[in-house]
Amino acid sequence: MEPNFAALRREFPVLERKTYLNSGSYCALANDVKAAIEAYMEDRLAVGANWDVWITKNEAVRTLTAQLLGATPDEIAVTASVSAGLNALASAFDFTGKRNKVVVSDFEFPTNAQIWHAQEPRGARVVHVSRDATGYIPAERFADAIDESTRLVAITHVCFRNGAKLEIPEIVRIARSKGALVLLDCYQSVGSMDLNVKALDVDFAVGGMLKYLLGTAGLGFMYVRESFTKSLVPTNTGWFAQENIGAMDITANRPHASARRFEAGTPAVVNCYASEAGLKFLLAVGTKAIEKRNQALTRRCMERLVEIGWPSVTPTPDARRGATVCIPSRDSGALSRELMNHGIVTSHRDDNMRASFHFYNNEDDIEALITALKDLRGKLGPR
Ligand SMILES: Cc1ncc(COP(=O)(O)O)c(C=O)c1O
Repeated sequence: MEPNFAALRREFPVLERKTYLNSGSYCALANDVKAAIEAYMEDRLAVGANWDVWITKNEAVRTLTAQLLGATPDEIAVTASVSAGLNALASAFDFTGKRNKVVVSDFEFPTNAQIWHAQEPRGARVVHVSRDATGYIPAERFADAIDESTRLVAITHVCFRNGAKLEIPEIVRIARSKGALVLLDCYQSVGSMDLNVKALDVDFAVGGMLKYLLGTAGLGFMYVRESFTKSLVPTNTGWFAQENIGAMDITANRPHASARRFEAGTPAVVNCYASEAGLKFLLAVGTKAIEKRNQALTRRCMERLVEIGWPSVTPTPDARRGATVCIPSRDSGALSRELMNHGIVTSHRDDNMRASFHFYNNEDDIEALITALKDLRGKLGPR
């Protein structure tokens, strides 16, 4: 049975005030998430330092994230950010041998390219796979870049610039045929669609809580395939990455025998409260239903944009699109600001205004956007 999306929408009070189309940047705040943050505050006042409970919140985030991704809790590192997870992972690779190439794409979020370039003094070679004339990166373009010297293919699932979704199963197949590992940056997809790391057969996956996972900034995750949770040893580490945190041993580094070895310091407790509530909410709605709804909303939005003569730059096939529709403008920043004056919350990157959808959006949101865009086309339409 389809979830009652109209009832779910009422759990996000900001939607009564704004047309909120910005979940690819930061989700709308759910009542449950607000209540969880307030519960933390109450705990601070009532108990002070309730570490025994707080640690269970960090573990709850791990378990729920594992459930969401189809992994085991021991394969999940709870990190401060995607960047923190990537830095720990990069520190565990040896780039001095023959397999020193890292393949990234032109669709990467900066951090998933910059961190690999930062490994160049350690021997890494970073190769970028570029887009074709249509603006997309078909899987076969990766075949030219991935070879026997490739250690890692580090790619985004959905591009934050244009909403395009890469053909991950095909790219993974190419990587496997050359013995390369695959890291998926799923920040722009996780929570907006059904995602199973085992089915996708990736070795690592990174994301965070503040976008489609309904949580808050300051908390991320890294999935690490079980076999690598023991064989890879990060040098970027800390006391929460140790086998026995309570040992307080200062004589050696003894990494945990799970993905926890990619963590570092004290967990972000308040963020764990918020993100636990967000993940529970999301899992109760169901990612399959969310994917279907987001595909329908983005498809409808794109059809309406074509009707008003202002087509998006996001791919039209459902399989090649995430939950964001990117609309070209001669001044995308000004367009976002003007939309804000119309009560419509969006964001912008490059020459595109980004309208990101989640299950709590509806057709009225699309119509509000279309009406405003009709108004603004003369001034801020595409070049
Ligand atoms: C695809 C993608 N990767 C990574 C990030 C950010 O990572 P971090 O958690 O290090 O800020 C974002 C944030 O917008 C993103 O869209």
